[in-house]
Amino acid sequence: MFERAILKVAHYKVLGRGALSCVFRGRVGFLRTTVAIKRLDKEDKESSKAFCRELMIASSLHNPNIVPLVGFCIDPEEGLFLVYKYVSGGSLERYLHERKRGVKGGPSLPWSVRYKVAVGIGEAIGYLHNGTDRCVVHRDIKPSNILLSSNKTPKVCDFGLATWTPAPSIPFLCKTVKGTFGYLAPEYFQHGKVSDKTDVYAFGVVLLELISGRKPIEAKRGPGEENLVVWVCQCFNFDLIIFSSIKFLTVESVVPYCLTVKKSGSRYG
Ligand SMILES: Nc1ncnc2c1ncn2[C@@H]1O[C@H](COP(=O)(O)OP(=O)(O)O)[C@@H](O)[C@H]1O
Ligand SMILES: [Mg+2]
Repeated sequence: MFERAILKVAHYKVLGRGALSCVFRGRVGFLRTTVAIKRLDKEDKESSKAFCRELMIASSLHNPNIVPLVGFCIDPEEGLFLVYKYVSGGSLERYLHERKRGVKGGPSLPWSVRYKVAVGIGEAIGYLHNGTDRCVVHRDIKPSNILLSSNKTPKVCDFGLATWTPAPSIPFLCKTVKGTFGYLAPEYFQHGKVSDKTDVYAFGVVLLELISGRKPIEAKRGPGEENLVVWVCQCFNFDLIIFSSIKFLTVESVVPYCLTVKKSGSRYG
């Protein structure tokens, strides 16, 4: 738990803003350690559920490629807060896409760093699915939920949509589809089926973004190029892209292993 005083966030720098929350940079404790404070902005049932989900799941995770939760606060007056270790390098979204829009963003990433980032995200997802007591599906893997440390180690954040599943590869049905358009696996988008494959598909889209520098959906592109996955399939005359299971990842194998492409007939999974 954190003392109430630090949660007076009005004077803190805003690091990011989402649909349900706002993330601030603040300082805590005797050593004035820099942290990221995520404040839930809405007071409805959905926000409280997202807060509890994120608190329970994030506090159970310990991996070098996942942003550690360092505390929380439930205050009747100030609201609901999650406190994370601060990751100084900004989000992968900023590196991949913000520069092009002319917004102040990071420099472009060299290939060696893109590879390192791909491996790190794969390691994090492998850990979520197979490295803990219960399989965790993140459900919102995308560049804005991947932060880069000062030495460009990727750290997955934002467990607001995460959920535990009975076991990897056993799908369950959800009534409402949540997540981000462009990263939603077809069986999730069309039938509400969630499983570890939901993250594997989104990871595949992030790999394509890392390789191509394009966003998953870009309305201003020419006909046939608006959707990154469809465009890549067309470019190489492939019917489907196969994103293999990432159960046994090794640093050397992750990119070729996860992004193997097949001519026809098979499903990703
Ligand atoms: N630990 C952190 N360190 C630095 N920046 C962070 C941290 N956590 C979040 N951010 C910034 O805040 C943004 C939103 O955080 P996120 O947890 O994804 O919240 P939301 O649920 O609102 O999307 C991120 O894209 C990132 O830019
Ligand atoms: Mg987010």
